[in-house]
Amino acid sequence: NNNDIRTINHLRHVDSMATMPSGAGKIPRLNAVILGEALATEENDLVFPTDEFSQQAHVPSPQKYLEMYKRSIEDPAGFWSEIASQFYWKQKWDDSVYSENLDVSKGRVNIEWFKGGITNICYNCLDKNVEAGLGDKIALYWEGNDTGFDDSLTYSQLLHKVCQLANYLKDMGVQKGDAVVIYLPMLLELPITMLACARIGAVHSVVFAGFSAESLSQRIIDCKPKVVITCNAVKRGPKIIHLKDIVDAALVESAKTGVPIDTCLVYENQLAMKRDITKWQDGRDIWWQDVIPKYPTECAVEWVDAEDPLFLLYTSGSTGKPKGVLHTTGGYMVYTATTFKYAFDYKPSDVYWCTADCGWITGHSYVTYGPLLNGASCIVFEGAPNYPDSGRCWDIVDKYKVTIFYTAPTLVRSLMRDGDEYVTRYSRKSLRILGSVGEPINPSAWRWFYNVVGDSRCPISDTWWQTETGGFMITPLPGAWPQKPGSATFPFFGVKPVIVDEKGVEIEGECSGYLCVKGSWPGAFRTLYGDHERYETTYFKPFTGYYFTGDGCSRDKDGYHWLTGRVDDVINVSGHRIGTAEVESALVSHPKCAEAAVVGIEHEVKGQAIYAFVTLVEGEPYSEELRKSLILSVRKQIGAFAAPERIHWAPGLPKTRSGKIMRRILRKIASGQLDELGDTSTLADPNVVEQLISLSNC
Ligand code: WT7
Repeated sequence: NNNDIRTINHLRHVDSMATMPSGAGKIPRLNAVILGEALATEENDLVFPTDEFSQQAHVPSPQKYLEMYKRSIEDPAGFWSEIASQFYWKQKWDDSVYSENLDVSKGRVNIEWFKGGITNICYNCLDKNVEAGLGDKIALYWEGNDTGFDDSLTYSQLLHKVCQLANYLKDMGVQKGDAVVIYLPMLLELPITMLACARIGAVHSVVFAGFSAESLSQRIIDCKPKVVITCNAVKRGPKIIHLKDIVDAALVESAKTGVPIDTCLVYENQLAMKRDITKWQDGRDIWWQDVIPKYPTECAVEWVDAEDPLFLLYTSGSTGKPKGVLHTTGGYMVYTATTFKYAFDYKPSDVYWCTADCGWITGHSYVTYGPLLNGASCIVFEGAPNYPDSGRCWDIVDKYKVTIFYTAPTLVRSLMRDGDEYVTRYSRKSLRILGSVGEPINPSAWRWFYNVVGDSRCPISDTWWQTETGGFMITPLPGAWPQKPGSATFPFFGVKPVIVDEKGVEIEGECSGYLCVKGSWPGAFRTLYGDHERYETTYFKPFTGYYFTGDGCSRDKDGYHWLTGRVDDVINVSGHRIGTAEVESALVSHPKCAEAAVVGIEHEVKGQAIYAFVTLVEGEPYSEELRKSLILSVRKQIGAFAAPERIHWAPGLPKTRSGKIMRRILRKIASGQLDELGDTSTLADPNVVEQLISLSNC
């Protein structure tokens, strides 16, 4: 059959790989693939790019990948400085290119790339492209929540808008190194604001506009911004959300805690709501439209060191307090641009759409910086993928002739459930590459995405990475690899993933264990804001000498990587990272809740869902009303996306004699695997388990 012929051709193509020297010892093995030994199991279900696709790709074969990968590992300084030279630097970096210490036993953890190099990422995103003749090319398309509402900005227009805002911020006293908190939905003003901050050396901290007032205030209190930028309201599907009210509440809270905010810039989002019904605090609140257009459209760039901070982005960890992940300028710039180019095989004629919100790292690296650094045309979508109906994504794909479509498995699964009809009614013939991120993509969703959405024509880049890594770490290069549905395949250039056992010993070959990374890469985060100790403890102490990702991973006999999910107390709901401790503390803050324990359970669409065991205060009866009010408490304290799927009444929680909650048992009860509870004899009170099981259906 056809596929076999392609397979054979491809194998001939990569014939010499079996004899590749193994250099750093971490060169992926593809022997079985090369030798055609692959057996017909799921793990070996290879999906090849077409010859036509491979021939035009930046990296057309595994062989070419191996060559480049080997170079990147053996000579990182040479490899990365060659790439970095393609950017604009006011002054070149120090000779060393990078310095690192990831080993806590040898002192402070420290990562630096291109130190001494002076640049500006906004300049590289905009001015450089305009100067190169891309001034009239569309930088950003905007597609509104409601069909028929759209907009766009060329590179020149975007530059002008960014300069106006940058001038305003400078006028407000924002200086290099100052923080600016951004609480905006997916309007063009969101990337504009990020870029304006970068232009003047200010550190942006975008807070996803689905977070609650309490979460927002917590972040404001942590990073003490000079200015907060928001809009009055936004439409999400048929609903109007009053964002300004949320900001108002957050600012009351932050002022109480000693972090008053003097300037709150508010964009009037007229499509959602007119300005006159917006609550206003004179002196503090300013309408964007009243001031920004008056500013000059040129603004000198603030040149910064490669290691000066670019942004802070808060993410969840295993304790209640969110972590301020800090990324710096030079390495992040080089890394996001390069990963974007290779993982999506980017060409100047592409139209790129990433469905992520700029409130998450994906929207930072792959809506704003990565695409613009490459001079790409990128879509910013305000709405929801199923509004007005489940065909919206493909409507947008056809409207803009999208060639690269990057989304999350949860969206793929939910659209898959709605039926092929919504997809096949659109042409989608512009598509050439699909991408997935946020959680492991299960093979059946992968196949549907590949066969139905991509008409069995478009390779899928299943990109594994994290807020902390800045950019892709393990990802297919679409023209190079035969893919295996559900595997993120191989490391990106310069990345040395290792799988270690409990003791932190590297395991070779076919294995599974904890995923760590050896050495640094340019896009790595440099610290947790204000808490370098937590940075070291969380990421570098668990396995000395390595960066610990928090993920489990297995490697198959062909060297392909299969991510298996978090191994820490983090739950991944629809690709959103939520700490169990955060949800527990939100529940416990409810006056009727005495104790709570939260675990993740499998969910058909969301990947995982939140399942909460709740012990009420003495004498409080269970009720439906109370259940709702507990869920509301989580929505209010974190955001709607963190709402528990289920509340399980728990007269007591299974604890060890030392008082530690045994989540292993709770996970089994939550998923109904009652015959797999394991040893419960070490519990302080073994009867608790019986009680919990009897309350399973309440
Ligand atoms: C965690 C990071 C990176 C942007 C979105 C989430 C999981 C992410 C994949 C993937 C398997 C994945 C991991 C990781 N994850 N992408 N392609 N395959 N798992 O960023 O909020 O920092 O979450 O998301 O568990 O640790 P994040």
